[in-house]
Amino acid sequence: MTKEMQLLKICRGSFSQVRLLHMSPAVNAEAKKDSSPRLKTFSIYRWNPDQPDQKPYMQEYNVDLKQCGPMVLDALIKIKNEIDPTLTFRRSCREGICGSCAMNIGGVNTLACISKIDAGSGKATKIYPLPHMYVVKDLVPDMNNFYQQYRSIEPWLQRKDTATTKSGEVQQYLQSIDDRAKLDGLYECILCACCSTSCPSYWWNGDKYLGPAVLMQAYRWIIDSRDDATAKRLDKMRDPFSAFRCHTIMNCTRTCPKSLNPGRAIAEIKKLLGGVASKPAPQMNPVGLKQ
Ligand code: SF4
Ligand code: SF4
Ligand code: FES
Repeated sequence: MTKEMQLLKICRGSFSQVRLLHMSPAVNAEAKKDSSPRLKTFSIYRWNPDQPDQKPYMQEYNVDLKQCGPMVLDALIKIKNEIDPTLTFRRSCREGICGSCAMNIGGVNTLACISKIDAGSGKATKIYPLPHMYVVKDLVPDMNNFYQQYRSIEPWLQRKDTATTKSGEVQQYLQSIDDRAKLDGLYECILCACCSTSCPSYWWNGDKYLGPAVLMQAYRWIIDSRDDATAKRLDKMRDPFSAFRCHTIMNCTRTCPKSLNPGRAIAEIKKLLGGVASKPAPQMNPVGLKQ
């Protein structure tokens, strides 16, 4: 190596040392800043049935977002595990499939497990149970009426005949691709009740009006080309409340965390009930395999 090259190498080394020396206070400050907590406040509805004299109240919890997953359910689980084990809420799948973590977050009915924590606003995030429901404890609503209504629509395939082969074996029912496509946007409902509990008609008449979630499931069976209990299903809704209490306000469709459209399904039911539309005949004979 020539003398000039050696000199250049030495100079380069010194330059980088000087640069590091100048940078280190900034790097240290950055590191210090990084280790400080990034606190987020959650204001959560509390009510304990074992203390019936105490009115419901809001309780605040501070969570370090650097030590927490990105979703509201992550924060709730962290609070329960590390701050307050008495905080009560439902959850199971943590990926928007079971519907059990439905609650009102920041004024919107949604699923805690697929709701990102609002980290930017600096404001406390308010969390309530689903609105206009009886509360079992804290964020857990009483779903009995909702499930009773779901049961009332008989959510299963019904046929007057039974599809069995000549030897008595159960046969599958046939359905064309187009008829099957009519169930898209309906069967994906996870029955979280976000829509029904955002519906003003359901708030005031939840005992008699079936609400968007249950009506959409009713329509899922009504429109199924394999089901032939359509007339019976519709007759059960021929009253002023079951379906016609929907005033097309569309809160239901706006809030659905699965991006479904219960408002449209109700409109289709109303058309069938009013005789403006009728169920199309199946494109394939559902019991074609039996013959
Ligand atoms: S339609 Fe949407 S909001 Fe309503 S119950 Fe089904 S998934 Fe939940
Ligand atoms: S469209 Fe009907 S079901 Fe949906 S929120 Fe409005 S009134 Fe309720
Ligand atoms: S935990 Fe299942 S939908 Fe949120």
